Amino acid sequence: MGESASEPNVSEANESTGRVDSTNDEATSADPRPGYFGAFGGRFVAETLVPALEELTRATHDLVSSSDFQAELSALLRDYVGRPTPLSPARRLARVIDPRGCHLSELWLKREDLCHTGAHKINNALGQVLLAKKLGKQRVIAETGAGQHGVATATACAALGLPCEVFMGALDVERQAPNVLRMQLLGATVTPVESGSRTLKDAMNEALRRWVTHVRTTHYCVGSAAGPHPYPSLVAELQRVIGDEARAALMERGAPPDAVVACIGGGSNAIGVFRAFLDDAEVALYGVEAAGEGLTARHAATLTLGQVGVLHGARSKVLMDADGQILEAHSISAGLDYPGVGPEHAALQASGRATYLAATDAEALAAALEVARSEGIIIALETAHAFAKLREIAAREAARRGRPVSLLVCVSGRGDKDLVTYQAAGLGAPPREDPVRSAVDQEAP
Ligand SMILES: Cc1ncc(COP(=O)(O)O)c(C=O)c1O
Repeated sequence: MGESASEPNVSEANESTGRVDSTNDEATSADPRPGYFGAFGGRFVAETLVPALEELTRATHDLVSSSDFQAELSALLRDYVGRPTPLSPARRLARVIDPRGCHLSELWLKREDLCHTGAHKINNALGQVLLAKKLGKQRVIAETGAGQHGVATATACAALGLPCEVFMGALDVERQAPNVLRMQLLGATVTPVESGSRTLKDAMNEALRRWVTHVRTTHYCVGSAAGPHPYPSLVAELQRVIGDEARAALMERGAPPDAVVACIGGGSNAIGVFRAFLDDAEVALYGVEAAGEGLTARHAATLTLGQVGVLHGARSKVLMDADGQILEAHSISAGLDYPGVGPEHAALQASGRATYLAATDAEALAAALEVARSEGIIIALETAHAFAKLREIAAREAARRGRPVSLLVCVSGRGDKDLVTYQAAGLGAPPREDPVRSAVDQEAP
């Protein structure tokens, strides 16, 4: 892949060689060009895709923001997806995390797991498929990692009457088998991708390749707030409903939270909840990415350890080697197993507005068990990464503010798709003595 003529570093940027000439100073400077977040973002793509991206940029500005489109989408989100999703207090989990209440006063869960199809991905997929119909596109393609975006796109296409093809890394096809079946039941074609690490990055490469050859008739429904301009903005605006609803519900109760926490793959659920709180300077924003087997081993901690580079059409933080070759990411959760991240997160990290932490596979598994046993909610493995860092975040924020804090966590999805992984990790085994339950029961009134 090259890039559009309007962008810098034409010759340096391509999809397998991620390095662009840049320094950290450059990465933190503000950039007013459309499609950029500070020094990140842009549109580094093959010439063939530029007209389609320009059409989509115009549609994002003119159509998506129009009151007619918003009314139609809101009705679908209400009547079909089940929005607004609940905001649940998690009192038992709060006491497991902080038994004496020294750091954590309140814990609120924004329940995207209760959306139709079981994750936040449907908010974006319905918006984009509706847009594709308005643009007169005849078919939709998508990439998927955990399968949740594939299921969401297949669902939206079935509901709105468009054919759908989903590209999925062959490894993810194996580890997310229930979602493959769901997509097929919904009438989508699932195309396994055998190249590279056989995961999300390779699925996105293949989807982009297919798009190049069918660009006039096909809409590419990108599943995260990543990719070339306008996708990071379009997806963020379509996911912003998560943060808007959560903020309104908390303000009705009296105050915004002290901090907002979400897991980060490409970054769509996180940016969806962050955007509503960006102007609340006192609200801290935390993203949690996948540290996999540890930060010195195999991981997907792009913001923590990546460098500035180009992947899948945008300049952002990328995992790459000294020659600029994209490294394989690793996470036990297919949806976080990606060596890139949306450019708005790279900018929020560079400006210091958001903080990014990383949780290991083992920490995520432990957190998933804790949430299941204390709250009766089986969360997705991706989501479990956010929960794994709640102790650390509560302690940090309480120390900074000198009082116990309230946290809002985005429950990006439910764990049905991860049952086999949970079982393989021994989570289903009945514990002789359940430390989570006994800690809660001792504390509970
Ligand atoms: C339940 C769930 N949460 C989070 C993610 C990560 O994606 P994003 O960072 O775009 O929210 C995925 C990706 O598939 C997912 O399925």
